[in-house]
Amino acid sequence: MRTSLLIAAGVLALFAFAHGQLGWAPLAPYVPAESFDTLLKTSTFEDRYRQTSLLADLGSSFDGIKFLATQGASLIPSLASFASALPANLTVEPGLSKLALATQAYLSLYGGVVNAQYPVFSDSAPINSFKHAAANLVIVNGVPLGNGVSLYSTAIFSLVNGPLLLTLPPYNGGYWLVPFYDAYGEVFRVLGSRQGDNAGGCWLLVPHDWQAPEGLDIPKEFKLIRSPTQEGILLGRTSFNGTGAANWTLSWNFTRWGPSPRGADAPDVVFPKGAGLAYPGTDKASLQAINTADPWAFWKVAGEVFRRNGQSSIPTPLVKELAKIGIHRDFGFVSYGLDVNTTDALAIAPILATRIAVAKYTFLGTPATNYWKLPVYNGAWGNDYVLAAAIMKGFWISNRLDDAAYYYNYLDSAGQPLTGSNVYELVLPKAPPATSGAFWSVQALDIDRWTLLYGPYPLNTALSSPVAGLYVRPDGSIPIRVQVASPPANTTAASRGWNWVPGYPGHFHLNLRIYAGDATVLSDTYIPPPITKLASGSSNSTGSSSPAPSPAGSPGAGPAPSPVYGGRRA
Ligand SMILES: *[C@@H]1O[C@H](CO)[C@@H](O)[C@H](O)[C@H]1NC(C)=O
Ligand SMILES: *[C@@H]1O[C@H](CO)[C@@H](O)[C@H](O)[C@H]1NC(C)=O
Ligand SMILES: *[C@@H]1O[C@H](CO)[C@@H](O)[C@H](O)[C@H]1NC(C)=O
Ligand SMILES: *[C@@H]1O[C@H](CO)[C@@H](O)[C@H](O)[C@H]1NC(C)=O
Ligand SMILES: *[C@@H]1O[C@H](CO)[C@@H](O)[C@H](O)[C@H]1NC(C)=O
Ligand SMILES: *[C@@H]1O[C@H](CO)[C@@H](O)[C@H](O)[C@H]1NC(C)=O
Ligand SMILES: *[C@@H]1O[C@H](CO)[C@@H](O)[C@H](O)[C@H]1NC(C)=O
Repeated sequence: MRTSLLIAAGVLALFAFAHGQLGWAPLAPYVPAESFDTLLKTSTFEDRYRQTSLLADLGSSFDGIKFLATQGASLIPSLASFASALPANLTVEPGLSKLALATQAYLSLYGGVVNAQYPVFSDSAPINSFKHAAANLVIVNGVPLGNGVSLYSTAIFSLVNGPLLLTLPPYNGGYWLVPFYDAYGEVFRVLGSRQGDNAGGCWLLVPHDWQAPEGLDIPKEFKLIRSPTQEGILLGRTSFNGTGAANWTLSWNFTRWGPSPRGADAPDVVFPKGAGLAYPGTDKASLQAINTADPWAFWKVAGEVFRRNGQSSIPTPLVKELAKIGIHRDFGFVSYGLDVNTTDALAIAPILATRIAVAKYTFLGTPATNYWKLPVYNGAWGNDYVLAAAIMKGFWISNRLDDAAYYYNYLDSAGQPLTGSNVYELVLPKAPPATSGAFWSVQALDIDRWTLLYGPYPLNTALSSPVAGLYVRPDGSIPIRVQVASPPANTTAASRGWNWVPGYPGHFHLNLRIYAGDATVLSDTYIPPPITKLASGSSNSTGSSSPAPSPAGSPGAGPAPSPVYGGRRA
């Protein structure tokens, strides 16, 4: 470990501690302590918007990153601790360019590292088979636990042994979708009711450059799906409707089909039990942001993901540069022979990259949209690898716009950050425009506590449209209160006149999810209502005057989001 870096890490730890006094300690080291300062330590909306956008946008280019590292603190004061901790050699050329390249590399490879961890963390079914939430369905008040109505079905796949055949029997029980994610987390195909797949069928998942071997007949009914990467994830979501949905998902199957690409005599690759896709390291903590004990932890996994899976949507000009920092298409990460500037850059770039990704994840709307923001390329980011890193860091699951639109809001109608010491109201003038029997939901996500894999702490229940007891006024409007305190136990949404979305004691943001949105969603012209502050401090009958429940421990000690339902967030 270089002295300069030790000092840098020390300074950053000090800052984390200083912020810890203000309630920020739980964020370190998963995201740098100052990550939300552009949102929370600014006083006007203009300033919040400018600082947050500058950080995200400058962080999206090589020259912009160099500017952030050297002069960014003049525009974004919360970069000062990073700038002052930076080794001098990384502030001038050629070290500065190494830092910028390593920052870009971290952002562009980030999703691959997250996905490589997922099968281990989630205790998934063996590679190339499904784990269905339906298998251990927990039904509460007539609906399954999870995001209201989704029965999650997860399969981690690898095409190393050849194509995989997905067979779905016919089904006509409501809304369902199965997005296919590449190794970096981008959606490359979706099957579903809205896609016209209710007749079921057989889909053959093959590598992107797959050619049927000579003499091999592919049955006519097989539909080919080409995966951009050798590995990836399927995440099925089927609306629970009280009838046959759960049984239907249990009947899906996913089987090896056709000869092995490695020859008829080669035995199949068998992934070690419990090790997911068998990457060199999957310890969540050591892979997040800076890791002084093993600065290469991230890069070893990232290099191996890249070696196995190629560039997918990582821009070619960037891919061509990666060998300069030891990342090779044929070998993965090779640290041998890297100069000190490069190794320093690799060790410290994750901090700047994470600041950039978190700023990008801070999706701020404008007064014209009541501060709601719909990141329309959420699951179709193409070569916008900063958006990819933001989604994979902040939410882990991406969606194509026509499948699920996620609207974000961090601010009340006065442009002030949402906090658990206030009570907020939002009144949907009518149900959000989900179509095709799909649903919508509203959920608060805690940004003071980030979890190791998922970003904002997600465990508070979402208010979900199909859940029994949703209160809709006679005029069709839907009143919602967001507050920490539970409503009086002997009330219902209808008797008290509002639906409850649980808030968090600290800072949080809201998500409105609209599955299968209508044309106003697809054109990004639907505008959710403002979030109005009703009361601050101890509220009375709107909530209760009891103090906010204290959170159960830090992210390290607290419960990880349950993986059983795909993290209950998608
Ligand atoms: C800066 O780079 C020079 C040349 O590679 C090296 O001798 C020096 O030790 C470096 N300084 C620091 C603080 O790393
Ligand atoms: C490291 O960076 C410093 C300043 O950027 C430069 O003077 C030095 O020559 C670099 N060392 C190498 C080996 O490139
Ligand atoms: C896979 O599903 C198809 C269609 O439902 C069924 O015909 C077949 O028997 C299943 N195969 C296995 C191995 O379960
Ligand atoms: C639920 O699914 C069944 C098929 O399993 C279907 O017949 C029924 O219409 C569905 N109900 C709703 C409300 O979608
Ligand atoms: C689901 O399958 C179980 C076991 O095969 C069966 O008992 C049950 O009736 C099925 N439920 C529906 C709604 O089809
Ligand atoms: C609800 O409970 C409170 C005290 O816990 C009581 O004063 C009130 O009368 C109850 N309301 C109803 C409708 O039961
Ligand atoms: C607090 O209680 C008073 C008296 O019941 C009521 O008039 C007022 O609206 C309440 N405040 C809020 C913010 O609900």
